[in-house]
Amino acid sequence: MRVLVTGAGGLVGRAVSKDCRTHGDEVFALDHQALDIASAELVERELERIQPDAVINCAAWTDVDGCERDHARAQAANADGPENLARASRTVDAVFVTISTDYVFDGEKDGFYTQDDEPNPKSIYGLVKLAGERQAQRANARTIVVRSGFIFGPGGRNFLSTVGERLRRQEQVSAIADAWGTPTYAIHLAARLRELVLLDLPGTYHVVNSGDGAAYDEFARAVGQELGKDQSLVQSVLSSALKRPAPRPRNSRLRCLISEARGLSPLPPWRDGIRQFLSPDRSSQTAT
Ligand SMILES: NC(=O)c1ccc[n+]([C@@H]2O[C@H](COP(=O)([O-])OP(=O)(O)OC[C@H]3O[C@@H](n4cnc5c(N)ncnc54)[C@H](OP(=O)(O)O)[C@@H]3O)[C@@H](O)[C@H]2O)c1
Repeated sequence: MRVLVTGAGGLVGRAVSKDCRTHGDEVFALDHQALDIASAELVERELERIQPDAVINCAAWTDVDGCERDHARAQAANADGPENLARASRTVDAVFVTISTDYVFDGEKDGFYTQDDEPNPKSIYGLVKLAGERQAQRANARTIVVRSGFIFGPGGRNFLSTVGERLRRQEQVSAIADAWGTPTYAIHLAARLRELVLLDLPGTYHVVNSGDGAAYDEFARAVGQELGKDQSLVQSVLSSALKRPAPRPRNSRLRCLISEARGLSPLPPWRDGIRQFLSPDRSSQTAT
């Protein structure tokens, strides 16, 4: 299968490119420099040239606070980009998968968010990601939207991906105690994205590791425990102490209503994801 991966220089993009190569796909891994998805013209030209069977969009402007300051750039990358790719995928008859976020929800619910819950984003990032879902689905009915959250993995620059390295160095880390999500290992997410391509059934999927989810501090302590580190290295803080420009949901734990019915088994527990991520022989593991 010929697979085009956009945002291929990012955390999920790298994992997806690797997973597809492992399965013998011909992978066209385009990073931001190679393809700016905000340009309809460039997107159309690249898809015409490559003629992929599937397009997996891992590109996004993921700086949540940055999006708050520059709505136009956020809209271009996170809403118009998926629409451009969806439309061009339709022209070349490719399956289209695009990743969205748990931040489309307001976080006021106490349990897990499913596809039955009405999105109500609080931040510009959440707002434009939701617009991206809808614009893509309007442009191409064959669109598969995958909402995920709290993603960690090799090469990631976010807190969840870097906390292990920091604890290994015996650094004290501050971790948020009042924001809960469903941690998701990028390698497991990547494998599921490819399965969804093969399934080719459009819709909105929630893809996260199984388990009850965790707050950032609980995740950090689980990482510390795996590394045999003193739990006192992790200091719990409240979100309000960080004074970040963009509001975040208090609870953005996800659960999927349709995956099982479509024959997809639950992803492993997130603690297994942590274990794999921290394992010294990770590079020899397959992405599935
Ligand atoms: N990480 C999480 O916890 C999380 C949670 C929920 C959903 N998601 C979603 O998961 C997807 C993958 O995110 P990630 O975690 O892999 O983020 P990431 O590491 O920041 O990767 C995103 C990549 O997209 C590129 N990019 C930005 N604007 C672009 C544009 N206009 N055209 C092409 N490429 C562009 C970035 O390149 P530059 O850095 O060079 O600009 C970056 O390499 C995104 O849709 C994100 O919204 C992530």
